[in-house]
Amino acid sequence: MTDNIELTHQKLRVFQPQKLSAPRDFIIPDIINNKNHSPLVLEIGAGKGKHALGFAAHNPDKHLIAIERTRNKFEAFAKLAAIQSSPNLDAIHADAIAWTVHAIKPSSLVKIFILYPNPEQHNPNQQWLNMPFFEFLLSRLQVGGEVVLVTNIEAYMDNAEQQATRVWCLPNTRYKVAADSQRTHFEVKYLARGETCWELSIFKPEGYKTRFDDWRIESVDEEK
Ligand SMILES: C[S@@+](CC[C@H](N)C(=O)[O-])C[C@H]1O[C@@H](n2cnc3c(N)ncnc32)[C@H](O)[C@@H]1O
Repeated sequence: MTDNIELTHQKLRVFQPQKLSAPRDFIIPDIINNKNHSPLVLEIGAGKGKHALGFAAHNPDKHLIAIERTRNKFEAFAKLAAIQSSPNLDAIHADAIAWTVHAIKPSSLVKIFILYPNPEQHNPNQQWLNMPFFEFLLSRLQVGGEVVLVTNIEAYMDNAEQQATRVWCLPNTRYKVAADSQRTHFEVKYLARGETCWELSIFKPEGYKTRFDDWRIESVDEEK
């Protein structure tokens, strides 16, 4: 971790990546150590993979790593991924926090999707922009890279927008999701009920500094 640097953000609590062991059966996908890989995209909480499968099919120039930790959802996703067999998609069964710490290099992602995270309503610590881990996630994003957060919970979006601006000091834009959008199973369900869904698009500007910009775990240091 880098100490004594002038941080761009205001988050005081520090994430402790060194305390996280690698997920069970952890294997680094080939794409991570391939020097000539296409732009890398990460999806956290992919569910049964509707968005991941569509994204991989429509963006052959990008490589998506889509992570889901709930076994039955992941199994449904893995089955469909095996049928679709997109070479630019890795479906991963793991906790995205430990997996990211152990597999993703600094400044290596062009985009991060967090679609309908739906934490327990009464536990604000589970909201992604409230977590110290968000700083680590930002360190993995390239300059100009984007975090896309989507939710149907207005209070979640209000807080995320405020945290992005005031705590993380990041440029961001909030949109309403189009009523005919169908990116994920949860999106289809909420929009069919007539609920409003919101999207926050957050960009990492040039010169953005976190405490993890040079932090790497040994396992991701070999280059092919
Ligand atoms: C409400 S579901 C939404 C699934 C999908 N994105 C959609 O919109 O249909 C949230 C998902 O995030 C997953 N999730 C939450 N925290 C996670 C984490 N730390 N790592 C991996 N998956 C996580 C949950 O298991 C759950 O399947």
